[in-house]
Amino acid sequence: MTGGLAARLARRIERDGPVSLAEFMALNNAAYYAGGDPFGRGGDFITAPEVSQMFGEIVGLWCVDAWERMERPAEFRLVELGPGRGVLMADALRAARLEPAFRPEVHLVETSPALRSLQRAQGFDAVWHDRPDTIPDGPSIWLANEFFDALPVRQFVRIGGSWHERLVDLGGDGLRFVAGPALRHAGAGGDGDVTEVCPAAGGIAAVLAARPGYGLAIDYGYVEPPGRPTVQAVSGHGRVDPLSRPGEADMSAHVDFAALMRAGREAGAAVWGPAPQGEWLRRLGIEARAARLGGQEEALARLTGGDAMGRLFRVLAFGPAGAPAPAGFLDGEGG
Ligand SMILES: C[S@@+](CC[C@H](N)C(=O)[O-])C[C@H]1O[C@@H](n2cnc3c(N)ncnc32)[C@H](O)[C@@H]1O
Repeated sequence: MTGGLAARLARRIERDGPVSLAEFMALNNAAYYAGGDPFGRGGDFITAPEVSQMFGEIVGLWCVDAWERMERPAEFRLVELGPGRGVLMADALRAARLEPAFRPEVHLVETSPALRSLQRAQGFDAVWHDRPDTIPDGPSIWLANEFFDALPVRQFVRIGGSWHERLVDLGGDGLRFVAGPALRHAGAGGDGDVTEVCPAAGGIAAVLAARPGYGLAIDYGYVEPPGRPTVQAVSGHGRVDPLSRPGEADMSAHVDFAALMRAGREAGAAVWGPAPQGEWLRRLGIEARAARLGGQEEALARLTGGDAMGRLFRVLAFGPAGAPAPAGFLDGEGG
C-alpha cells in the first residue's frame, strides 16, 4: 500500500477495527477527486459531456423546455451535482442562450476543491455548495450526470444462511475484504448473493425532488437488483482492484433507480423513466444536431449505441406530480 490515504486507513483500522466498504468508498473518492482532473483520454474515464458538446446542448434545451413548463419564472436556479470539469453546464448554458429570457442562477454541488477550480475556469457565474440542502429554496431545475454512482454504497453478502456486511480490514501487506458479523434480522436470499444499498442517494434524491421544478438523474444502474456486486474501481480506462491503491482510482457502483424513484415519489414529485440514454437523446433530436455539426459519427455512436453508453446509461426525470411527461419521455413512462 502506498500514499497518504493508505497510511491513514491502516492507522485507523489498527485502532478501531475494520471499516465498512461504504466508509472506504467515501474516503477513497474524497481523496481521488481532490487529486485533480481524472477526465478524458489521458485520464481515467470519459463521461458523456466529455464525449461531445451535443450531450450538454441537448440537456440545456431540455432545461429550457422544463422552464417553459414551469411558466417561465424570472428567478430560478439551475443546479448541477458533481459537475466534474463543468463541461455539461457550459454546453447547456450556451445552447440555452437560444432563449434570452432563460437566465438562471447557477448552483454547483461539488466537494473537490481541484474540480471547483476547473469549473470556475469555464467562465460562467455560479455559487458552490458541499451539499444540496444549502441551495436557497425556489423554482429549480437540477442535473446529475454520473453523480449518484460516485456515492458510497454498503454491501451485504449472504453466507451460511445469514447476511454479513462487507468490511475492509488489514491483511498481509495491504487491505483485504472481510465479512462482518452475521446480521440478526436477515431477509431472504441464497448463499453467495450480494446486495448493495446507497443510503446517501435516497436522502439526496428526496432533497432535490422536494424542490419545485424539474430534475434529471443520468447514470448507469438498475431497477431490479442484480443480486451481484457492482462496486468497481477504474484507473487509466481499465478496472483495478479497489483496495490496491486507495484514493488513486475512481470507485463507483450501479445506481439503484428504484430507490431514487421511491425517494422522489415520497417527497411528492412525479418521476419518468428511467429511459435508455440513447433513445432519450434520439427523441430529443441528437441525430439532427450531429448532422448539422458534422464529424460526430463516433461520438453519436458512443452516446446512443446499444453496445455503448446508449443502453448502459439511463435517464430518470423528476417533476411536479400530475404534470405531463417532460421532453424526451413518453406518457406512461413513469409519472
Ligand atoms: C464521475 S464524476 C462526474 C462528472 C460530470 N458530471 C461529468 O459528467 O463529466 C463525479 C463528480 O461528482 C463529484 N462528487 C463525488 N462525490 C460527491 C459528493 N459526495 N458530494 C459532492 N460531489 C461529489 C466529483 O467530485 C465529480 O465532480
